[in-house]
Amino acid sequence: MIILGIETSCDETSAAVVEDGKKVLSNIVASQQDLHTRFGGVVPEIACRAHTDTIITVIDNAVAEADIKMSDIDAISVVNTPGLIGALLIGLTAAKTLSWILKKPLITVNHLHAHIYASKIEYDIIEYPAISLVVSGGHTSLFLTHSETDYESVGGTIDDAAGEAFDKVGKILGLGYPAGPEIDTISQKGNEKAILFPRSYLKKGSLDFSFSGIKTAVLYHCMGQDSRNTSEIPKLTDQEIADIVASFQKAVVDVLVDKTIFAATKFSTRSIILGGGVACNSRLRQKLTDAAKRRDIPLFYPSKKLCMDNAAMVAGLAFHKYGEKKFSRLDVEAMP
Ligand code: KG4
Ligand code: ZN
Repeated sequence: MIILGIETSCDETSAAVVEDGKKVLSNIVASQQDLHTRFGGVVPEIACRAHTDTIITVIDNAVAEADIKMSDIDAISVVNTPGLIGALLIGLTAAKTLSWILKKPLITVNHLHAHIYASKIEYDIIEYPAISLVVSGGHTSLFLTHSETDYESVGGTIDDAAGEAFDKVGKILGLGYPAGPEIDTISQKGNEKAILFPRSYLKKGSLDFSFSGIKTAVLYHCMGQDSRNTSEIPKLTDQEIADIVASFQKAVVDVLVDKTIFAATKFSTRSIILGGGVACNSRLRQKLTDAAKRRDIPLFYPSKKLCMDNAAMVAGLAFHKYGEKKFSRLDVEAMP
């Protein structure tokens, strides 16, 4: 079964061809990062225009690299939620058009579920139920995962997403966008115990997250005593920046690991799955690996290319929806 996947929920235009939910024949990702960097964040109008400009080429390249003909495709899959509404609509319109022309089923996929499925592409056996943590630029969510197609939301952020906190702290410190990878690297030279930033656990037993407070704490720390008199951040040395980002990263990772392990224990899950762009973070990977090992729960996370937004995870998940005949009609809508 050969499925074409399309992903345009944010600032990456991606198309992939995946066979039987696992064999990635192609996975083309056209990043718009260069277009958004100077604005320090994703500008929705620019994202939409870039998706429109590149979507056809990206799909053509995915089909060419997979070395198949359009007529070999058995189904068209696409992310229709969540994401930037205009961006989602471009991928969805392309998918609907192909589904209609090729007379093949249309399968819509939730972007967060696809991030969780990404691990399944690289690992043969993942036992369910699993607790799955999706950490990305737009989301921090915990799902109790019953199967490849059954995801129950059990917690999420009440304000900023984890990746958003990395990106905003990067902006405060004058780092590039997105700042997550740079913070990951710089942290290795810093002292993570230098500053005790607040950890927000919310009420006892809560599986929700909050990361806006820590971002503000970093801002006030950087401004020092002058925070009420000036909006300028005093010049910091490289070591001061390294200590700040290492301490910030430790605070975020501590909460993510503690809540994920708490959820795994609460629901007696047989696995833990990690996905999304922030799942590339080396400290998060290491600390969650250590914590999962201590409790003897297998942990799965994909290689970096499959952590970031990509369409292979979409086409992979769609294979299982196909098996359950979970098709969408051509009037299916995009939901932000
Ligand atoms: O999943 P993704 O590619 O896009 C969304 O769905 O949002 O995630 C992008 C996010 C950005 O916020 C970026 O800063 C963060 O993932 N990120 C990282 C790392 N690599 C990417 N955050 C921390 N450490 C990293 N190594
Ligand atoms: Zn994502």
